[in-house]
Formats: sequence, structure tokens, C-alpha cells
Amino acid sequence: MEFDDIFLKTIDSTQDYAKKNVSSFDKKKITCISAKEQTKGRGRFNREWLTEKDNNLSVTFCFQLKSKTLHLTSISHIIALSFINCLRAKNLDPKIKWPNDVMLDNKKLSGVLCEIQTKNDISDVFLGIGINVNNSTEFLEKIDQRATSLKAFTNKTWDKDELLEILKKEFSKNLEMFNAKGFEPFHEEFENLLLYKGEKITFFDGQKQYIGCLHSISSDGKLNLYMPNKEMITFAAGDIINK
Ligand code: BTN
Repeated sequence: MEFDDIFLKTIDSTQDYAKKNVSSFDKKKITCISAKEQTKGRGRFNREWLTEKDNNLSVTFCFQLKSKTLHLTSISHIIALSFINCLRAKNLDPKIKWPNDVMLDNKKLSGVLCEIQTKNDISDVFLGIGINVNNSTEFLEKIDQRATSLKAFTNKTWDKDELLEILKKEFSKNLEMFNAKGFEPFHEEFENLLLYKGEKITFFDGQKQYIGCLHSISSDGKLNLYMPNKEMITFAAGDIINK
């Protein structure tokens, strides 16, 4: 799919901008909305997403998929995998904290917010990714979990525009595959990148906490948690906490 780019200087949230303006977007393309500054960035579970003017990549990809697309909600994993491939091309070795945090050195480098609005047989997908690019350690310390940036990790300043262009290429290639075959072709690669596999984790599904062993990822992208009573519980959404 081709891209339409919208570059914003300052916005509350690229995600909210996309949702407000979706009716004017070309439905045959991926609209890529990026902002130099976000004043009210949103994370998963209504959390705040902190950014610094010019130092973060704040992007929302907006496009349509058929509502019946296989494993539709696992599209959020595809953007994380696409970003990981960009980093590997730069000789970095990131990992994934399920569902789609990209991690370097056990610290969060990027997060994904995926919102899907379905009307009949068409779904509008709002796929937001926030990446800490050139943030200083002083800024990262303000974040309420262990976080890093590409600059903090590599000691060099990164070209955000170049990074976004590589991410777009990688994502559009992967989206084509996802559209044709769902999550299955990405399953093995995704599972191999997973942090805490085989380890005891505390998991929050939005309502309740579970303590169990992170067993595996199912072929549609869900997380399988092996419980002390030998039961396997499968989650489509949630967060690994206390790690
Ligand atoms: C998370 O880890 O909780 C998800 C963070 C997602 C942040 C991105 S930045 C671009 C887009 N606009 C937002 O307001 N949020 C997402």
C-alpha cells in the first residue's frame, strides 16, 4: 500500500488527530501522521505517554482492513516487528515484551497503541507507535518504568526522518503479508524475540492479576500463561508487570 504523509508540528495526540480526521483520508492508502511534539500522548490502558519535543518519533498509521482479516488485533505485533527489523539492520538486538513493547537492555524503547473501529465489513485501524529516539537520560528518568532511547543506548544522535522512512517501508511490506495470511508467518520470529519466555511473570489483563509461567505465543499472537494449577490461560490483551 502507498502512503499519504501528514506532518504536524504540535498536536495533542497523533492518535486522536487520526480518529478525528479519518473521514478525509484516502481509504486505499496508509495515512502516516507524525508530529514533532505531542502534548497529550496516550498509552495503553489510558496511561499517559510522555514525549519531548523533537526527540521522539510519534506516529499513527491509519488504514482500512476487512473486518474478517485473520488475527486482526495482532496487527499491533506487526508494527513492533517492523520496528525491530529496522533496528536489526542497524546492528541492534532488541526484544519484545508482550504484547508489543520493543525493549533494549530490558528497558522500554517503544510502545504501540492499536485502536480498531469496525463498521460492518470494514475496520479502520489506528496504529500508533511511540519511539524514544534522541531523549536524554534525564528525560527518561521521568518515565514511570525503566526506559531507554536510541541515543541513550548507542551514544549517538539518530536521524528520525530516516528511521521513519525505513519503518514505513518495512511496515508496508509486512502489512501485505499480514493481509494475505494473518499473524502465522510472523509467529516464529515473534516468539523468538520474546522476553521472559519460560519465566514466572505477573500478568494484568486490565482487571485482574495472574501469576504464572509465560509459556508461549499462540499462532494468532495471543499469550499463553501456564498456571500453578497446570491450567493454560490465553490472553488477547494485557500487560506483564513487575519486570
Ligand atoms: C504504550 O506503550 O502504552 C503505547 C504508547 C503509544 C504512544 C504512541 S505515540 C503516537 C501515538 N499517539 C499517541 O497519543 N499514542 C501513540
